[in-house]
Amino acid sequence: MKHILLTGGLGQLGSEISSELRKRYGTDNVVVTDIRDDVNEDILGSGPFYKLDCRNGKRAAEIIGKHTIDTIYHLAAMLSATSEADPLQAWDLNMGGLLTVLELAREHGCAVFTPSSIGAFGPTTIKDWTPQDTLQRPTSMYGVTKVAGELLCDYYNHRYGVDTRGVRYPGLISNVTPPGGGTTDYAVDIYYAAVDRKEYTCFLKGDTRLDMMYMPDAVKAAIDLMEADPDRLRHRNAFNVTAMSFCPEDLAAYIRRYIPGFEILYSIDPVRQAIANSWPNNLEDYAARVEWGWEPEYDPDSMTRDMLTVLTNRKKEDG
Ligand code: NAD
Ligand code: SER
Repeated sequence: MKHILLTGGLGQLGSEISSELRKRYGTDNVVVTDIRDDVNEDILGSGPFYKLDCRNGKRAAEIIGKHTIDTIYHLAAMLSATSEADPLQAWDLNMGGLLTVLELAREHGCAVFTPSSIGAFGPTTIKDWTPQDTLQRPTSMYGVTKVAGELLCDYYNHRYGVDTRGVRYPGLISNVTPPGGGTTDYAVDIYYAAVDRKEYTCFLKGDTRLDMMYMPDAVKAAIDLMEADPDRLRHRNAFNVTAMSFCPEDLAAYIRRYIPGFEILYSIDPVRQAIANSWPNNLEDYAARVEWGWEPEYDPDSMTRDMLTVLTNRKKEDG
């Protein structure tokens, strides 16, 4: 049985990966940590939790020792828009946190899952069917930390034999925990607005095409990769994974299938628009499919149906 620790475990991704990991491996074998402890009472009350700054290696080592941790899901990071608002803080957390976790993994013999992102690509990367192995010259601080993180994870694998693995996630869409300050957040916010008031004002232009994924597929990708046979992995970190590619106009049209009359308006945020313009339109994820059997379940229509059903039911329950 695995003994798992999550950093940043109360965030958008962590709150859902931790629930699935607890179902699979047992509640007491999955230790959630985060720098805050004021959200997600379901997780806080449902198994081991520690308030932990992931850069605090000494405290993290105590928790790893106490719970005989053998696998770390390192999810604490600043996303693209918040990183651009405070680049030094982003470097400090995204690189400092990762380096601390990799050192802990080396010392304690842990495997590590670290998400990279479509943000690891830049304006000179080929935009359509972006290959697994290609030019990466990102122009955002988030992207700089993601490319450096991919390289650092590869380094700890080939230099020290640490079992590092990771994927390049696209924008993640979910209905459990709000997103933490990304460029793709519109694709979550739009569903809440559609259910509340049949209208949404989008901060990206209507034709801005980006890769996206529904959270159940994102959770599956992380766990399947960590379970994959290492002998089949030619790549290790930063597998391209995607499930769908759309722009705000497309997403509004999908929502109109279920909420006729839904309206999308635009008030462009130049910072997030510039970031989005520098990212691919759609990724090619052949390596993940061949090396560990990646296959997404949700497309834009099935995701939209599910998101709207969950949010509408929740609204009714909340009165
Ligand atoms: P999030 O912002 O929702 O959650 C991050 C969590 O980290 C938060 O709960 C925050 O409290 C915590 N945190 C912040 N500073 C910390 C510190 N010093 N120590 C410990 N915890 C700290 O982010 P997310 O969406 O869950 O993203 C998780 C990972 O997935 C990140 O590496 C992110 O870059 C990557 N990713 C996310 C998306 C997406 O669309 N959400 C897409 C691609 C990649
Ligand atoms: N959804 C993330 C962001 O926009 C992509 O990594 O920051």
